[in-house]
Amino acid sequence: MQGTTLSRWTLSYFAVAVVFLLAAQALMALGVGYPSAALRAPQTLIVVHCVTVGWLSLLMCGALFQFVPVLLARPIYSNMLPLPALILIVAGLGALIAGFLQLAGALPWMPHCFIAAGILLGSGFAVVLWTLGRTFARAWPPNLPAQFVVVGLCAIAVTVTFGIVFALGYGGYLHSALLAKLRVHALPLHVIAGLGGWLTFTAFGVSHRLLAMFMLSPELDGPTTRWTLYLGTLALAIVVGAGTVAAATAGGLEIALSLAGLAGLACLALYGSDVVQLYRRRVRRVIELNSRMAAVALAHLAAAVLLIIACAALGGIARFSGALVFLVCFGWLTGLGLAKLYKIVAFVTWLECYGPVLGKTPTPRVQDLVVEPRAARWFWLYFAAVDFATLCLFTGTPLMFRAAAAFMTIATLGIAVELVRTRRLVNVKEALRLPSGAHAPRLLLTFVAH
Ligand code: HEM
Repeated sequence: MQGTTLSRWTLSYFAVAVVFLLAAQALMALGVGYPSAALRAPQTLIVVHCVTVGWLSLLMCGALFQFVPVLLARPIYSNMLPLPALILIVAGLGALIAGFLQLAGALPWMPHCFIAAGILLGSGFAVVLWTLGRTFARAWPPNLPAQFVVVGLCAIAVTVTFGIVFALGYGGYLHSALLAKLRVHALPLHVIAGLGGWLTFTAFGVSHRLLAMFMLSPELDGPTTRWTLYLGTLALAIVVGAGTVAAATAGGLEIALSLAGLAGLACLALYGSDVVQLYRRRVRRVIELNSRMAAVALAHLAAAVLLIIACAALGGIARFSGALVFLVCFGWLTGLGLAKLYKIVAFVTWLECYGPVLGKTPTPRVQDLVVEPRAARWFWLYFAAVDFATLCLFTGTPLMFRAAAAFMTIATLGIAVELVRTRRLVNVKEALRLPSGAHAPRLLLTFVAH
């Protein structure tokens, strides 16, 4: 990563994202949303979008602003545009939540909220796509891991478009029969494009590079990785293409989703075999905490896939969709996100503070910025609470679920405190902390030399 510009606003994205995660977990512990309310209840929609937009999407955007230049070995198109994008997305999510609060009767009716949400979220993600798109344009055609990110960015554009249609529908602005049909039938497409295409497929691409980089494994670009890309892209194309046609004509979404499911399963199997290769062929024998916890998150992805297959076979997808979406969001995506955040914050802080004085004065190693045994306890508590919460959703025990959500919140708070300590260099011995020429890091902003 030497020579790559640090992203100025990535840490702000991470900080806002962690706040939304803690808020969503605290709401679940307080009995807001599913399973204490119906799956499509406004309270559930608030929690769902705090997690999917406020936490997972902001985390992914922040990571991409830092790692797309690493993947492409080209500087980011603009180190300023990420700030207005962040403000637009947070303001848009605020308007969407206000819209859902109105539906719940907690706020007086202001229909413009949903149109404001659509415009703000739409333009916020458009600025993200523009900034990353222009960066890709400078390095076209992109290498293999970067191609996963390109597909993921197309998927967020689709997800947000469907989201805007739904939001306009709630605001009473949909007058076309076609859009009205989409509003009724396209929700699964919105969810799959968002959780599957944008968040999971992009994570596949980025994790190929990050796992190889942090475990010192040879990067994979052979047929298994290429076919992971082709089959995943095919699955998403079927969901978006055939799925939209089916939803717009109110006809058999099941056929499109089953075909996409087959291609998606093959994609997941190939990705799984690649990940096993990355762990097996690593040079760094002692696996750091972030890679160990990433492996636990990957195991949760495998468990979610097996449960989805079992539910599909037993006709229980609709009944257990809440539990399955929960496991994908908190076992796989949040588990991986927190594990990678633990490493990225330390890495970016080390590079920012000690990069300029490397070789000129004694400096700590990246590992000296963290205390893994202490953080490991919070990570294990987090995954244990997620597993218990998932079990509660499958067995229909809302009160126990709330207790599990409370432990998820405590564990996440513990991890967040570790991230702040790392950023504050608290774990680095006094003598090595700030050698001359090194800058004290600011919590939310990365110091960029030029
Ligand atoms: C990564 C991005 C996103 C993901 C993963 C996502 C996921 C979801 C999920 C899982 C649901 C169903 C929730 C339930 O039934 O309880 C949902 C519904 C909805 N989403 Fe999103 N969402 C995303 C972004 C957006 C955006 C950007 C908007 C608005 C512009 C939006 C607007 C909506 C609306 C209005 C509904 C309710 C649909 C209905 O009940 O008919 N979503 N979303």
